[in-house]
Amino acid sequence: MFGADLSEVYDLVYASRGQDFAAEATLVAELIRARRPDAGSLLDVGCGTGEHLRWLRGLFDRVEGVDLSAAMVAVARAKLPGVQVHVADMCRLDLGRRFDAVISLSTAVAYLPSVEAMGRAVARMAGHLHPGGVLLVEPWYFPETFLDGHIAADIIRGADRTISRVSRTERLDSAARIESHYVVAHADGIRHFREDQVFGVWAREDYLAAFHQAGCTAEYLPDVQSGRGLFVGRAR
Ligand SMILES: C[S@@+](CC[C@H](N)C(=O)[O-])C[C@H]1O[C@@H](n2cnc3c(N)ncnc32)[C@H](O)[C@@H]1O
Repeated sequence: MFGADLSEVYDLVYASRGQDFAAEATLVAELIRARRPDAGSLLDVGCGTGEHLRWLRGLFDRVEGVDLSAAMVAVARAKLPGVQVHVADMCRLDLGRRFDAVISLSTAVAYLPSVEAMGRAVARMAGHLHPGGVLLVEPWYFPETFLDGHIAADIIRGADRTISRVSRTERLDSAARIESHYVVAHADGIRHFREDQVFGVWAREDYLAAFHQAGCTAEYLPDVQSGRGLFVGRAR
């Protein structure tokens, strides 16, 4: 997952599919400052190619990122000179310092294999917060909002390439698999790759329980961001 093929096209694909990283970063900063007006430091967990950090670095004094994929981190580091971006598993995260805010966007936590693993990751995120710091986690779909058998198709036109992407989603007990096929056409050739991703389909209460067990308050803000909402809490 999230190897060299996907990391190379990720920004173009998601921007073309309508993801507005600047608007999302602005909303995140507003939600954080509403709870902690003096917030100056932020850690983005599962930061991917660093598109949110690209905007957040102008809104906070110090930002850092962490992601499991070395390929995604390489893209982030190239676009964020001076910003520390670490390769690490969010379930075992230990950077040895704390932040005023920790965020995890675009459903990064739902790539974990179980609700218990999600709980461990939320605990590690909370462990990187100063007292009163803000934790913000974007979930994937809940069992009642998940659409089984969803199929999607996009044609994406970039300056030097055209990409077609088709995907199908299949429910597996408390998870779902998305199979995506990409065809990338450059002037010098066309290549195809496939990406299979498995997401946890967990209940709202599972996320709220993970926040509480990690020593944070928790509320769910529906409809914001991608429409999947956000969990927001504060470390006690
Ligand atoms: C859909 S991408 C989102 C990236 C970024 N947050 C964004 O909004 O563009 C999910 C990211 O979560 C990362 N990820 C998945 N499992 C992880 C783990 N156990 N620890 C850290 N990062 C992880 C992936 O490598 C990937 O970059």
